[in-house]
Amino acid sequence: MPFRATLYTALLALVLVSLLQAQTFNVPVSEWGPEDEIGAANRLTPQKLDTGFPTAVNDDYNRDAQPRGGETIGENLISYVDDIYNGWLGIGTQLDSLAHLGFNGTFYNRREARDFVEVTGVTKMGTEKIPPIVTRGVLLDMAKQKGKTQLVEGEIISGDDIEAAQQAQGVKIEEGDVIILHTGWLPMLYTNATRFGTGWPGIDVGAAEYLASLKVVAVGADTMGVEVVPPPNPTRLFESHQVLLTGNGIYILETIDTRELVEDGVKEFLFVLGQPLITGTVQAIINPVAIR
Ligand SMILES: *[C@@H]1O[C@H](CO)[C@@H](O)[C@H](O)[C@H]1NC(C)=O
Ligand SMILES: *[C@@H]1O[C@H](CO)[C@@H](O)[C@H](O)[C@H]1NC(C)=O
Repeated sequence: MPFRATLYTALLALVLVSLLQAQTFNVPVSEWGPEDEIGAANRLTPQKLDTGFPTAVNDDYNRDAQPRGGETIGENLISYVDDIYNGWLGIGTQLDSLAHLGFNGTFYNRREARDFVEVTGVTKMGTEKIPPIVTRGVLLDMAKQKGKTQLVEGEIISGDDIEAAQQAQGVKIEEGDVIILHTGWLPMLYTNATRFGTGWPGIDVGAAEYLASLKVVAVGADTMGVEVVPPPNPTRLFESHQVLLTGNGIYILETIDTRELVEDGVKEFLFVLGQPLITGTVQAIINPVAIR
């Protein structure tokens, strides 16, 4: 999730307001027990299958190819190039783990940040704990549902919209699915990257609760944050993230490239995603694949 610019600008106002009206979000104990760290990934069964996509990334990372130009050593004149990477893992097409966002210091399954967040990484719910996500993927064309090719920043996708899109497109969300929402926002990355990353269309809290009630494994979209920005209430930030990650253990997939699937009229597919095994990370740059 692109927390930086968006979050920081709104944070001061939020803190001031939250002092006045703190609201309680009841973080439940996981339905898979107090030891559970993988949430909705428990719904992955051998019967489920699926796909995804990659996309361009922000510029807030540095990468070095070492040694530059390639060094040649040894009698066999081996030439090699390695990588050093120094940057955010929450960029480009990415996954949010259950350790990414919480409520007032409490995360998924009532874990307290002070108990699992270390300078060396998280000791619970890290990305490396998430099993391969291979399941049925459902693509809902939410732009088409609203009679458009591209939704705009601040435009809300409600639970009713998602329900109507299923009916109109003849597809039904089932337990254990990965849901990908197409808003048509991704092309903005190439026409105005600043605008692409400043706000976007997306789900509201009601839609997050609706998707959670359907017991999905992950929710993704072709935007940087999946949920609508700016939010309907400017003092309540990334609240759908709290509903999905913290309240229900459901993963979030951001900046998913839905263009080809939509062009091809794909509604269901096999979603396939293996996680990078970097211990203690809360996000991951991913490259999911859709197979149909
Ligand atoms: C937030 O956490 C602080 C520190 O644990 C606690 O004092 C406060 O009551 C909490 N607020 C809410 C609304 O839960
Ligand atoms: C790009 O978007 C930003 C933010 O919406 C806007 O201020 C700027 O004028 C846009 N640039 C162009 C070239 O349209």
